[in-house]
Amino acid sequence: MSEPVRLKIVEGVAWLTISRPDKLNALDGEMVDAIVPACREIERSAAKVAILTGEGERSFCAGGDIDAWSNASPEAFGRHWVRDGHAAFDALARLAVPLIAVLNGHTLGGGLELAACADLRIAEAHVRIGQPETGLGIIPGWSGTQRAVRRFGPQLVRRMALFGHVYGAEEALALGLVDQVVATGEGRAAAEIAAAGVMKRSARATELTKMLINAAEGEESERVVEALAGAVAAASDELQEGLSAFRERRPARFGQ
Ligand code: COA
Repeated sequence: MSEPVRLKIVEGVAWLTISRPDKLNALDGEMVDAIVPACREIERSAAKVAILTGEGERSFCAGGDIDAWSNASPEAFGRHWVRDGHAAFDALARLAVPLIAVLNGHTLGGGLELAACADLRIAEAHVRIGQPETGLGIIPGWSGTQRAVRRFGPQLVRRMALFGHVYGAEEALALGLVDQVVATGEGRAAAEIAAAGVMKRSARATELTKMLINAAEGEESERVVEALAGAVAAASDELQEGLSAFRERRPARFGQ
């Protein structure tokens, strides 16, 4: 049986596929837990860009698995379901390489939150995008009221989350929910073209620029500030002197 979250790295492109087509790729706890290790594996690999999509032709992701979360206790809901989902989606949104999402069908609830993690969204013509959670009596809890607001704007999120608007491809494009619309079945090929564009550019400059854009958006400003400052400090002669002094049990001589 194939893994419900499948990672394949081919010629510098990491393909991450949400694969539970009989349930329209709804995410259960096990699938959510598989996302952080997959992101770490992508970052340890030679991949320069990642493409996220759903298995099959009907759905990108129809959200969190309703049976899974509705059977959780209130405590487990907050402590595990919401927290683990945030950890997974944060890892995706903060992936070192650009992330392209191919929305190949239903992109609902957690599916929209998943899509919001991407740097580029390509929608196939039959896409349906929305936030149905309040109609079920629950809130969009995997950053559907936070990252989605930062990335799509509060009014659009209000329309989807409070009024139940569901958007098709052309409307989603006009509203800025997606970046490109392609015919059904052509999303992966379009993503490969976008990925080739990323691979022509400097990987280091791309990674740094993505971090800066994320920081400007409030995505991860604390880590970005310390990561960039840490990299500058790590490249300095003074670090070498500090380490040598520690090992030689003597006071450090910093530029004196
Ligand atoms: N969680 C668990 N199972 C889900 C699911 C979800 N979020 N979304 C779809 N499924 C399952 C269905 O229960 C069904 O399973 P079954 O065949 O074992 O009965 C299967 O996926 C196919 O879905 P179905 O509803 O039969 O397809 P459809 O084409 O008639 O409708 C949707 C498609 C997306 C409109 C409908 O499945 C739906 O509304 N899903 C829930 C979306 C949602 O509210 N997401 C947010 C959850 S917090």
